[in-house]
Amino acid sequence: MLSPVTVVGGAGRTGELVVRRLLSAGAEARVASRSASHARELVAAGAKAFTVDVRDGSGLAEALAGARAVVYSVEPGTDNSGPNRPETTMYQGVRRVLELCPPDLHRFVLISSIYVTHPEHQFNEWGRLLDWRLRGEDAVRASGLPYTVIRPSWLIQRHGKGKAAVRLEQGDQGDGQITRDDVAEACVQAIELPQAVGLTFEMYNDSGTAPDGWGPLFDALAKDDVLTH
Ligand SMILES: NC(=O)c1ccc[n+]([C@@H]2O[C@H](COP(=O)([O-])OP(=O)(O)OC[C@H]3O[C@@H](n4cnc5c(N)ncnc54)[C@H](OP(=O)(O)O)[C@@H]3O)[C@@H](O)[C@H]2O)c1
Repeated sequence: MLSPVTVVGGAGRTGELVVRRLLSAGAEARVASRSASHARELVAAGAKAFTVDVRDGSGLAEALAGARAVVYSVEPGTDNSGPNRPETTMYQGVRRVLELCPPDLHRFVLISSIYVTHPEHQFNEWGRLLDWRLRGEDAVRASGLPYTVIRPSWLIQRHGKGKAAVRLEQGDQGDGQITRDDVAEACVQAIELPQAVGLTFEMYNDSGTAPDGWGPLFDALAKDDVLTH
């Protein structure tokens, strides 16, 4: 496994699952969080904690120095103005992290959301949340870095009965649920598998069993246009 990997938002619910997978794979996992105390259990498990704030960029340079991969899993604020508006975390924060990534970064994985291409959706009533998320995605796609953009559907903690299959879609037309575990696994697979580069996709759980391997799931998707222009 590539190392070190910086997980921005690594003390959050999905971020922690990514960090634990990285540690299990023997990687150096860096947890970037607004308070090192949020990462206490992960530090006990072997992770390194960095105090950062993507809204003003503090601490990011240290957390990203020498990183081989970055996962961005930050929850947006939902205010209409002030520091906790979505623009600061979903767009400006993404751009700050992109600017500080080493030029030879192996993978940038952004956790975004379904609905980002639906400006009329009610989520946009919270500080134009979806619009800023889409602008953050666009910044990643335009960065020139090898990236994967993951758009989870509604996040849940456990699979519904018999619903362990994972469906990846493109076009942002669906609705459904996906476990945080599956999203975390997608992040790690996206770091490892070359066919994940240049993909933007939505994630849903379906009836059936967990994927045997993620290569065929990524292979079935179309690369983003930005790479072919
Ligand atoms: N909930 C859903 O149904 C849903 C659906 C689709 C997509 N998503 C997205 O999926 C991602 C993961 O969701 P989750 O529920 O696992 O998230 P979560 O548990 O809320 O964790 C997100 C983390 O973001 C960090 N964060 C917030 N502001 C920050 C800042 N200014 N600087 C640095 N870190 C900051 C927080 O860490 P600290 O407090 O330690 O700083 C928090 O632990 C999020 O982007 C979420 O919006 C969620």
